[in-house]
Amino acid sequence: MLKIIFFGDITGEPGRKAIKQNLPALIKSEQPDLVLANVENLAHGKGVTVKTLEELINAGVGGFTGGNHVFSKREFSDAALIKYADRVARPANIPPTYAGSSAVKLKTAKGVVLLGNFLGQVFMEKQFHEPIGSPFAAVEDWLAQNQSPEVVATLIDFHAEATSEKVAMGYFLSGKVSALVGTHTHIPTADAKILPEGTAYITDVGMCGAAGSILGVKKELSLERFLTQAHVAFDIPEDASRAELSYVIIMVDELTGKSTEIKAIHEIVKLK
Ligand SMILES: [Fe+2]
Ligand SMILES: [Fe+2]
Repeated sequence: MLKIIFFGDITGEPGRKAIKQNLPALIKSEQPDLVLANVENLAHGKGVTVKTLEELINAGVGGFTGGNHVFSKREFSDAALIKYADRVARPANIPPTYAGSSAVKLKTAKGVVLLGNFLGQVFMEKQFHEPIGSPFAAVEDWLAQNQSPEVVATLIDFHAEATSEKVAMGYFLSGKVSALVGTHTHIPTADAKILPEGTAYITDVGMCGAAGSILGVKKELSLERFLTQAHVAFDIPEDASRAELSYVIIMVDELTGKSTEIKAIHEIVKLK
């Protein structure tokens, strides 16, 4: 069996610390074949950089997915997506002019894992400021283009806001991919399951970021935005002493590409 660990949106330094301080022990106890993570909020809450990606690679993360914020550090994010184009899957249903890869193939001891990332459309267009193509049409083309004989498992991160759109994508892809995991809302859902045709599914994995925050952001700033209805710049609580650590562990039969088990974990960890 192929064992995959997937971490939800790692948000800023508290999220990176939570991974760096907990992943080595988790790798020892779980012995995963592959560790994956959503990194759209990796560098101070928005975007990725070479340095922050390398922190996670050194901690044992082998592959990454993006989201609506993954390009937010402009040329720094583009540089990271280009340098690690063989490890980071950025959203596939956006204009092809964006930097990075829309599909990555990751080698494991049990065979190659195909990794993809798609954006939802419902309540997402404003957040991305660019037209987002239908993820349903795009994922069919993507599967036709990227599945190949060496691929033993396919995992897609569906980065979307609306629970209905994510559940619908789960049933649309049931039996076509090994796992469909949701990200973006930063709130874990209690619906991890194996769909009837062998696809592991969860609406949202949740985030890895500061505990006692609002979605990883300083709660005072987020609250002020709601109370004043004015734009308030967000910041990450870098001095956080505790973090949420949200991930799933998926078991895939590498002979059939079907999943047999998905376990969702949400815990609060102390940060050193
Ligand atoms: Fe996020
Ligand atoms: Fe997002």
